[in-house]
Amino acid sequence: MIEDLWYKNAVIYCLSVGTFMDANGDGIGDFSGLERRLDYLVGLGVTALWLMPFQPSPMRDNGYDVSDYYGVDPRYGTLGDFVAFTHAAKQRGLKVLIDLVVNHTSDRHPWFQSARSDPDSPTRDWYVWSKTKPPHADSGVVFPGVQKTTWTYDRAARAYYFHRFYDFQPDLNTANPRVQAEILKIMGFWIQLGVSGFRMDAVPFVIAEKGPEVTGAPVEQFGMLRQFREFLQWRQGDAIILAEANVLPRQDLDYFGEDADRMHMMFNFQVNQGLFHALATATTERLLDCLEKTRARPASAQWAQFLRNHDELDLGRLSAEEREAVFAAFGPDPDMQLYGRGIRRRLPPMLSGDRRRLELAYSLMFTLPGTPVLRYGDEIGMGDDLRLPERECARTPMQWSDEPEGGFTKSARPVAPPIRSGPYGYPHVNAAVQRHDPNSLLNWLERIIRMRKEVPEIGWGDFTVLRTGAESVLGLRYEWRNNAVVCLHNLAAEPIEIRFATGLPGEGGALTDLLTGERNPPDESGRHTLLLEGYGYRWYRAGGLDYLLKRSEV
Ligand code: BGC
Repeated sequence: MIEDLWYKNAVIYCLSVGTFMDANGDGIGDFSGLERRLDYLVGLGVTALWLMPFQPSPMRDNGYDVSDYYGVDPRYGTLGDFVAFTHAAKQRGLKVLIDLVVNHTSDRHPWFQSARSDPDSPTRDWYVWSKTKPPHADSGVVFPGVQKTTWTYDRAARAYYFHRFYDFQPDLNTANPRVQAEILKIMGFWIQLGVSGFRMDAVPFVIAEKGPEVTGAPVEQFGMLRQFREFLQWRQGDAIILAEANVLPRQDLDYFGEDADRMHMMFNFQVNQGLFHALATATTERLLDCLEKTRARPASAQWAQFLRNHDELDLGRLSAEEREAVFAAFGPDPDMQLYGRGIRRRLPPMLSGDRRRLELAYSLMFTLPGTPVLRYGDEIGMGDDLRLPERECARTPMQWSDEPEGGFTKSARPVAPPIRSGPYGYPHVNAAVQRHDPNSLLNWLERIIRMRKEVPEIGWGDFTVLRTGAESVLGLRYEWRNNAVVCLHNLAAEPIEIRFATGLPGEGGALTDLLTGERNPPDESGRHTLLLEGYGYRWYRAGGLDYLLKRSEV
């Protein structure tokens, strides 16, 4: 497999331009501000950025309601600023992925405005209409408790329109060849401006059959995915699509494509939920089950592993009992929960700000099969503001320093209130203070990222589950090109002594701790003994540190 596949060993960092860094002092983050922070991001060691939507939008769903696919919202700058940014990123070797939100538009999009006001409009069939209210209009809502229906009556159109998400996000009729052609045009436009691919929003809904007659679970038209991929690859060989598709494991290959001809990457929502179950219960069985079920993927395809993102932590795939266990541990208060299925908090408050548990969680995520995705602020342990509605609580501005508004803006009116007080407030939690402290979370994470990039076995190799004899300890071994690493994580608060075999030929000899350089030799039976502290973790390489040398022995 060619090593050119950059996404196989990448570290992705996701951010919203509007809450990252404000350069012009109007209170809203912008591309110029982001450009100024590129060296910070390179210093952290991430290799790719994923930008959430920044196109013109009425901003009723954090930009996921686009009103013009070919522009930059003036709040964030101009197309010129965007290209200056992608150029600056490229100069530093950073890839840029952007959100591609084409399941729906904003209801303010000129396509919808024209479609609703004239039955003969050229874009009328770009949306999904029904003369009467379909009988199943109240099923399939994505935001229960906030959104009531998936079909809303539009007086101007004299018809109901379909919207999988909020009523101000009319679904595009993606089966329409003209809409499909427009999606390709949008991709081509941004590729031309310097991006390396897309995080495709809501993929199962993009490719689902839509219409008043459609009932039950979405029926996907997978051919569309192949069409997107072919077009993209033709325009730019190393561009990728990272799919947001919270589907069941039996469908994974439908999305990747048996012949690796559909999505390059997918977020692993299964493992994400298993991971939080493991952290909540200090048991590994459920997580192991998720890892096993999502093991299969074409060699060039890749999972994206993550802890938290800009949405709620969706626990909808766990059983009711499992979900309750995670709620009890991390979101017991109903106000911390959302849509009846998830938790809306950021990770550090969920883990009571406990540094040992944070390190464990990030270390675990970095050593799961796939490519890690961090969210801005994770690197400094930012908290949330539960007074803000729905998912907004975890979208507060980046905390750069202890200056007013956390150094995010010079304006006294920031676009969203930074966290000003309490243990997660910017006077305590900010990037500037942590840069000067060698033991800060920021500097620890920088070291872990450096380490992760030097362990390509995780991104490229196959994993084997090691028997550790302890239900609280996850042991994974990765192998790739004659090299092997062993990663061990103790999910419990109590220390534990484990004995384990690496299962490598000849038992692999001594293990070397990649973080400390300490050696752990095998006993006569070839097994290793290890005392893991509460929430302790180890990354070992089998057979010494000379992996660069060994890597040439392909
Ligand atoms: C995004 C959400 C958004 C929704 C509608 C999602 O899957 O992650 O933030 O609200 O799509 O676009």
